[in-house]
Amino acid sequence: MEVFEAIAKRSSARAYAQTPLTEEELEKIITAGLQAPTGRNEKEIRFSVVNGGSPILEEIDEQMRKDFNINKGPHNFYYEAPCVVLLSAKTGFKWSVVDAGIAVENMSIAAEALGLGNLIIGCIYDTLNGERKDNFNKALKVPEGYNFEIAIALGHRTDSKAQHEYNKAEQVFYVD
Ligand SMILES: Cc1cc2nc3c(=O)[nH]c(=O)nc-3n(C[C@H](O)[C@H](O)[C@H](O)COP(=O)(O)O)c2cc1C
Repeated sequence: MEVFEAIAKRSSARAYAQTPLTEEELEKIITAGLQAPTGRNEKEIRFSVVNGGSPILEEIDEQMRKDFNINKGPHNFYYEAPCVVLLSAKTGFKWSVVDAGIAVENMSIAAEALGLGNLIIGCIYDTLNGERKDNFNKALKVPEGYNFEIAIALGHRTDSKAQHEYNKAEQVFYVD
């Protein structure tokens, strides 16, 4: 798939089949994250790959619901996707958030190009950086001195969603 087509077709997937990703698909998506540029070429992004489900995801989901007072709904935060990758970046580095955002978008577009659904997930940020941060980081193998920044759910989507709309006139300024 051509890159512009993948960008245009991508939308958030919030329903997944339990079909796992192939090793090749997963490696291609991780590689796309690793190939993302980083500020000062620090390459400080770390990827915690939870492929095929793990109790840690349910623990995070439970804690997030406690933190935000949300009752258990029909879906967890990753919509039961068969694979979730959590990205962490160096604490205090000026470009950490930007770098994590670029890496996750590379992965999202790569997944789309492979015909896979995906969802960028930020709602667990406060929970993963909250009271139980050290516990969660340990379980996710996040090295010391790194913060969770953003996650992505991956799988074969079973829903469909039109691309979101944008307002070019309001959002873009051509400066003379
Ligand atoms: C930084 C970021 C965090 C997001 N966090 C969540 C999230 O926690 N849960 C969720 O369902 N969607 C999340 N989304 C998806 C957005 O809601 C979605 O991208 C937006 O509504 C536009 O829809 P589209 O992705 O289908 O084009 C996030 C997207 C971004 C870029």
